[in-house]
Parts: sequence; C-alpha cells; structure tokens
Amino acid sequence: NIQACIFDLDGVIVDTAVYHYKAWKRLANGMGFDFTEQQNEQLKGVSRMASLDLILGWGNITNKTDDEKEQLATQKNEWYTDMINTMTPAEILPGAREFVLSCRDAGLKTAIGSASKNTPTILTRLELLPLFDAVIDGNSVSKPKPDPEVFTKGAEALQVAAANCVVFEDAIAGIEAAIAGGMKAVGIGSPDTLKQANLVVSGLDKMTLEMLEEL
Ligand code: G6P
Ligand code: MG
Repeated sequence: NIQACIFDLDGVIVDTAVYHYKAWKRLANGMGFDFTEQQNEQLKGVSRMASLDLILGWGNITNKTDDEKEQLATQKNEWYTDMINTMTPAEILPGAREFVLSCRDAGLKTAIGSASKNTPTILTRLELLPLFDAVIDGNSVSKPKPDPEVFTKGAEALQVAAANCVVFEDAIAGIEAAIAGGMKAVGIGSPDTLKQANLVVSGLDKMTLEMLEEL
C-alpha cells in the first residue's frame, strides 16, 4: 500500500530538458562540435559533471583539466539558469500539478527527488514548493542515480518505508535507482525505454490514484 509519492523533477513535473539541451549544445558548439537529440536522451537524470564528461567524450576532447571542466560546467549552468529564471507556472507539464494535489488530498506524502542543483529555483519559479513535504536534490546527495540515495533520503524525510513509496521517473537511471531502493517505479515516457518500471504512462495527466493501488 502506497503512502508516499516521490517525483523526479526534470521531465516529470517540468520539461527543462530542452533548456539543458540548448545550454549543452551551445557549450559543445563553442568547442567546435555538435551532438544529436538522441545523444541528449542519455543525459537525462545524469548529474552536471557526468553530463559534461559524456559530452566531452562525444567531441573526442580528452585534454581538459579538472579546473577547466569546472569552468565549462559553470558556463553551461549560467546559460541554463538564464533560461530557467524566466520560467512560469505555464511550463508545468500537463496534469502534474493536479496529480500531486490529488495525492495530497488522498493523504499521501509527496516529495521531490532530483539530481538537479537548480531544483529550488525551478520549484520557486513554478510556485510548486508548497506541494511537497520534502525536497531532496543535487545539493543534498553525494551519489548520483542509479544509486538510490536521493530517493532513500526522500523516504526518510517523509518517514515512510521504502516499500510504501512510489517513484515517478523519466530516466532509466532513475527507474533503476527506485528499484534499487526497494520502491515501486512509475515510468514517465515510453515502455520501450523504461522497461524496468512497474508501470509506464506518457505523462502525469494519464495517472490516477486507482492506478497506484495496482502497483
Ligand atoms: C536532472 C536532469 C539532467 C541534469 C541534472 C543536473 O537529472 O535530467 O539533465 O544534468 O538534473 O542538473 P543541474 O541543474 O544540477 O545542472
Ligand atoms: Mg528526469
């Protein structure tokens, strides 16, 4: 029986993937190469520095020092935050706000479990902070998904046992993290990609409380 819902942010509550993509693309282009939207899929749920490493690999760039990598990641984040600083609640994905509210009305606890260090900014811009009992993000975890740390900390903050938690995730690494943490996983996206999930829906607009009971 589900007592808590833990939501990934990017790709589940809001579509920030397009902003991440634009900022990383600009960075790559500045170094003289490009990458595809399909390669961009591999960046979903992946931390900032791990994303940079993947992108540098795609560009066959092997000579960057740690300091230079730090500067590149900072530059990307400046471009990214320029874009998210003008986001509005209109950019909340269809049905997301409604589903979180229906969970709360039913007495379920709600939390965010995201790899993003920009989570507080995004939740504030979207006026969603009051909808979550706990927010665990890239500022409070040391081990990235697929390690379950972000969701385990979420369950602890909500004081709900892992087995009674369900995680909503659009990234393969996030589904793996939920399963590894002993939680149920609902995939947001395509069943072909999110094979390990207990259930896959195209978006939270397709999700109902009744479906939680069948997990
Ligand atoms: C989420 C996104 C990733 C992003 C990561 C870190 O998991 O899906 O694309 O790289 O967060 O985000 P940040 O805002 O800390 O750079
Ligand atoms: Mg995501």
